[in-house]
Amino acid sequence: MNPQAPAMPSRYSRITGTGSHLPPRRLSNADMAAMLAERGLETSDEWIVERTGIRARHFAAEGVNASDLALPAAQAALQAAGRTADDVDLIIVATSTPDMVFPSTACILQNRLGANGCAAFDLQAVCSGFVYALTVADSMIRAGTAKCALVVGAEVFSRILDFNDRTTCVLFGDGAGAVVLEASEEPGILATELHADGKHVGILCVPGTVSGGSVLGDPLLKMDGQAVFKLAVGVLDSAARAVLAKAGRTEADVDWLIPHQANIRIMQSTAKKLKLPPEKLVVTVDEHGNTSAASVPLALDAAVRSGRVQRGDTVLLEGVGGGFTWGAVLLDF
Ligand code: UT7
Repeated sequence: MNPQAPAMPSRYSRITGTGSHLPPRRLSNADMAAMLAERGLETSDEWIVERTGIRARHFAAEGVNASDLALPAAQAALQAAGRTADDVDLIIVATSTPDMVFPSTACILQNRLGANGCAAFDLQAVCSGFVYALTVADSMIRAGTAKCALVVGAEVFSRILDFNDRTTCVLFGDGAGAVVLEASEEPGILATELHADGKHVGILCVPGTVSGGSVLGDPLLKMDGQAVFKLAVGVLDSAARAVLAKAGRTEADVDWLIPHQANIRIMQSTAKKLKLPPEKLVVTVDEHGNTSAASVPLALDAAVRSGRVQRGDTVLLEGVGGGFTWGAVLLDF
């Protein structure tokens, strides 16, 4: 066989391992209330739980970057898949809080894993980042350009929070989740659905940038929470229905719904519209807060490691966030 011949395209890609990592510093809502009180701002456990379902979040220590969280998550996913860094031929890191302007966090992770030589890049789709990255990896595997992909969501959102804005700083946290996605004759990923609508750039953004050696504009997160809420509820429902239709499946086939973990009210509304009972909804927002691109793989790994998501289960992943971006991936685990 000619070693230069392109690999035969695979029909499917399949998740063979999951992993995740949270930085050890856990802040309860009471801790956040105490931190904000020092700034003359008022919040409470009651308000945060009632409006969002969040009880705690994890913040990375000073000097800990997205790649530091991505590394143990990726190693855990590789171990679960029975793979080593040598097997990996594609690394995609979904992040909005990269270690540096460039090179990509994926290249930094590649070096630290010892997986040198393979393709590696970051993907920026904010809270939809993991669903976007999984879709890109699936497409590359089915096209025959990769066989064993490491797909990671890693964020240190604590770095871009405005701790003088109580409407946003209590919502987000840091963490990383990863999956190994491999070429397979069996599904695997059944269908994917991605969307964006750039006219909503302003409702969720970090408007600052780096220019001429200084930060230009405001480098902290701004969100019109109600506008995001309304859009999220609508697009999560339409993306779920679209991806199910593409795969020739129905709501009744879904064993687990793992949506972006931003607000329990949005998640429950999505489940209800799909007529899924609450026990099919995977919830980690209570303990993780909103970890942006890391939220879906963190929740998936928690559900796999706790024995809830089993091999053969049908799982619906959904992302929604800044851009405005949204999407869904339907898969047989
Ligand atoms: O990751 C991308 C996806 N992001 C999301 O999905 C976020 C979507 N949005 C949301 O989750 C919700 O809109 C929020 C949780 C951000 C806000 O909840 P809400 O029910 O929409 O509250 P609100 O913005 O209408 O604020 C209600 C009240 C306001 O006071 P007044 O004007 O009624 O007196 C706020 O000032 O709550 C006040 N408030 C707070 N009070 C205590 C806002 N933040 C806080 C706070 N603690 N941290």
